[in-house]
Amino acid sequence: MKNDKYKMVVTEDGSSSLYSENFTELMHTRHGAFNESLEKHVIPSLILNKEKKQLNVLDIGFGMGYNILALLTEIKKNQCIHIDSFEFDRGYIEFLRNLQFNDEKDIYYSKIFSAFENGTYSDGIISISVHFGDARTSLLNLLNNGRLYDAVFQDPFSPSKNCELWTLDYFKLIYKLMCDDAVLTTYSNAFQVRRAMSEAGFYLARNVNSSFRKEGTLCFKKRGLLPEISDQELLEIINNYKSVPFRDDTLKADREYIAEERRKEIVRNKI
Ligand SMILES: C[S@@+](CC[C@H](N)C(=O)[O-])C[C@H]1O[C@@H](n2cnc3c(N)ncnc32)[C@H](O)[C@@H]1O
Repeated sequence: MKNDKYKMVVTEDGSSSLYSENFTELMHTRHGAFNESLEKHVIPSLILNKEKKQLNVLDIGFGMGYNILALLTEIKKNQCIHIDSFEFDRGYIEFLRNLQFNDEKDIYYSKIFSAFENGTYSDGIISISVHFGDARTSLLNLLNNGRLYDAVFQDPFSPSKNCELWTLDYFKLIYKLMCDDAVLTTYSNAFQVRRAMSEAGFYLARNVNSSFRKEGTLCFKKRGLLPEISDQELLEIINNYKSVPFRDDTLKADREYIAEERRKEIVRNKI
């Protein structure tokens, strides 16, 4: 299937991903879309070890809903789970309508698809809200409902293409929405992302696994939760000219403006 904005691609683990013509990026790694959700987000988030009766997860960039799918297939069946997911494009819904996994994932995917189609899904154990619109506005709205999250899947497109969801101000906001023992997972290891996370108050760890080709980042609020990136390495990141973070103090600046202001700051720092 193909439309003007998206193209379906089969990845190495047999699961499909979508290539976005706007972002000129695939939504997942070619090495395995579903496995990426499981290994870069669900497992390292530590959510599977939590014993709470009610878990809350923030999923940034619904995309094809694979992070949610991997979570629902792995989570203990006696736990209630609420997921808030953000997405600003519905233009690829027809691709999702026809997705099939030919195993128990199909049952969970029908729930996830229903949330994407209708905005919400709930069966008393699993509840999913897909907030359509810019994720920054949705985040600000969530601040008002008082819910804190046990895990955050930070999964927009890459920082260079999707910088409005990788700014210092954005990470400061997410910090406020996380429980003390929550972990934020991401595939990015970009210097400016690590510095932004650190300046927002997070401790950082490597997101590594023998099957990844590239290291990502985990960040968290409580010291000792995970083995931290050393102070020496953090200092090297902060002192590198490439680590100037994206900034967006109004949380509504244009993507191009955010990227341009960072370029200017890098030039100013070099003079
Ligand atoms: C890499 S894909 C996410 C893949 C997804 N997590 C999954 O499991 O399939 C990134 C998604 O973020 C969405 N996105 C990018 N910028 C956004 C923004 N400012 N607000 C809301 N959604 C955004 C894109 O439309 C895209 O669907």
